[in-house]
Amino acid sequence: MGRVAGLSGVSVRTLHHYDEIGIVRPSTRTASGYRAYSADDMERLREVLAYRRLGFGLREVAELVDDPSTDAVAHLRRLRGLMLERRDRAEAMVAAIDRELEARAKGLTVTPEEQLGMLGARLYDAIGGAYTATRRTDPRIAAQIWGALGDARTVLNVGAGTGSYEPGDRDVTAVEPSAVMRGQRPAGSARCVAAAAESLPFEDGSFDAAMAVSTVHHWGDPMAGLREMRRVSRRVVVLTFDTDEPEWQDRFWLTRDYLPEFGAVLEDFPSLAGMAEAIGARTEPVPVPWDCADGLFEAYWRRPGAYLEDHVRRAMSVWTRVGPEAERRAVRQLGDDLDSGRWAERNRDLTGLEAADLGLRLLMT
Ligand SMILES: C[S@@+](CC[C@H](N)C(=O)[O-])C[C@H]1O[C@@H](n2cnc3c(N)ncnc32)[C@H](O)[C@@H]1O
Repeated sequence: MGRVAGLSGVSVRTLHHYDEIGIVRPSTRTASGYRAYSADDMERLREVLAYRRLGFGLREVAELVDDPSTDAVAHLRRLRGLMLERRDRAEAMVAAIDRELEARAKGLTVTPEEQLGMLGARLYDAIGGAYTATRRTDPRIAAQIWGALGDARTVLNVGAGTGSYEPGDRDVTAVEPSAVMRGQRPAGSARCVAAAAESLPFEDGSFDAAMAVSTVHHWGDPMAGLREMRRVSRRVVVLTFDTDEPEWQDRFWLTRDYLPEFGAVLEDFPSLAGMAEAIGARTEPVPVPWDCADGLFEAYWRRPGAYLEDHVRRAMSVWTRVGPEAERRAVRQLGDDLDSGRWAERNRDLTGLEAADLGLRLLMT
């Protein structure tokens, strides 16, 4: 026990405690009859200590190391992911502090949005767990985004979420402030840094291109985030939403007839023209295919029954933003209109349409 304590950097007392509570027990004996740790015991001790150092409580650690579905390699992978996440978070915080120190040294004030940029992640920490049920790559939308990236070799994906639109054939770095979203990124996906768009922890011109998909409307300060993308990259590609026309809510029957509250959600969102001007971008419509594979808010425009499904709505932030009362009312009215044939009557012009322009726009420099 003394030797193991020396090797592992914990006290003999701690090892005794682990033995008493059964979390790591020396399971063999030496020739002279002393209790001793086998190779398996040592492996288990290493896992216990690593999880402890990551801040897990002893009860949680016991559950983790006793999980029969997790072998040593799976533990190493999980530990590696947790350590990288911690390192990324520390790096992002150091970079944000450096930038603030630099700004203060120049006598500049740091806006509350910049200080609080990380808070944009809060919504997705709350609702992000339901995201992967329906949110994934739509190949047609992906093709349009990847086309706009041109010959960019290094790509920064800001507000990356689970990485639905990350091109597989480029060198991608992801930025995502929500731990829940980062935790759902598939094994083997691009390196992901915990940071917010408003304060990107990269030097000027670090990337050939920066992309942001379905995320700008969540940022505390969209204009600051867009300028940051421009600063760190030579090209910017953003999939966002056009609210410039006064009647923009009428483009989609869901907001026109059932959810007018969506207007208030985007009340403070900058104009498309303003965003384009800020980064010197041109705009291009992104039609939503009738069978869109990515369950975004507009995805089911020709499949209205989908909006009655709870798991479909839970993967769309709009429903959380408008609140439960508006959601209940909209779903009830839509259900009634689908039953009575009123929806079909009102939306006859959609029958047979392959794709619809519902206000999604690509900004590209
Ligand atoms: C609708 S998801 C889109 C994710 C991904 N781009 C996609 O297309 O699937 C919006 C993402 O923006 C992230 N987000 C929120 N505030 C942010 C900020 N200030 N900076 C960067 N990302 C932010 C959320 O955490 C969430 O993962």
